[in-house]
Amino acid sequence: MSHAEDHEGTRRDFLYYATAGAGAVTAGAAIWPLVNQMNPSADVQALASIRVDVSGVEPGTQLTVKWLGKPVFIRRRTETEIEEARAVDLSQLPDGNAQNRNDMTLDASDQNRALDEAGEWLVMIGVCTHLGCVPIGDGAGDFGGWFCPCHGSHYDSSGRIRRGPAPENLWIPVAAFEDDTTIKLG
Ligand code: FES
Repeated sequence: MSHAEDHEGTRRDFLYYATAGAGAVTAGAAIWPLVNQMNPSADVQALASIRVDVSGVEPGTQLTVKWLGKPVFIRRRTETEIEEARAVDLSQLPDGNAQNRNDMTLDASDQNRALDEAGEWLVMIGVCTHLGCVPIGDGAGDFGGWFCPCHGSHYDSSGRIRRGPAPENLWIPVAAFEDDTTIKLG
C-alpha cells in the first residue's frame, strides 16, 4: 500500500467516525437523554442494541462506533485481507477460540469471525485483550490488521492475536445484518 493510499484510508476512517457520532447510529443515541432520566435499567436496555448504517463504508475502510461504552470496529475488508485471513494455519494462533459472542464454541477460523459468509464484513470490539487500549487499524502491525502500541500486540486481518502480550483475539460482539446496509449490534 502506498503512503497516499494509507493516508486516504486513515482520513476516511476519521470521517466515518465523525459521521457515526453525528447520526449513523440510529437507535440508542437519540433516545439516550430521555431514558437516562427515567431509570438505570431502562437506559441499559435501550443501549443494549443499536443499528448502524454501513452504506457509506467502502472496501478497505472501517467505521468505529461507540456501543455500551466501548469502540466497535466495523471493517469492510478487501479481497486481499480476506484471503490472508483465510490462509492462516490455525495451529499458528495463540488463541484458538473465535471469541465470537454469538457462539463461544467456535474455533478461530476467519469464517467463524466474519459477519457474512464471503468475509467482507468484520465487526469487533475495539479493545485490546491485554489491558484494554484501543488498537490502531487499517492494516497496522506486522500481520496486516491491527496493532496495539501500548505493549506491542499485533492482530491479523481477522483481528486474531498473532504476537505480543494480548491473550485473546479481539472479541466479536453479538451482531447481524438487519438489511443490506444496516448492522444491528446486540
Ligand atoms: S493493552 Fe494492548 S498490548 Fe497492552
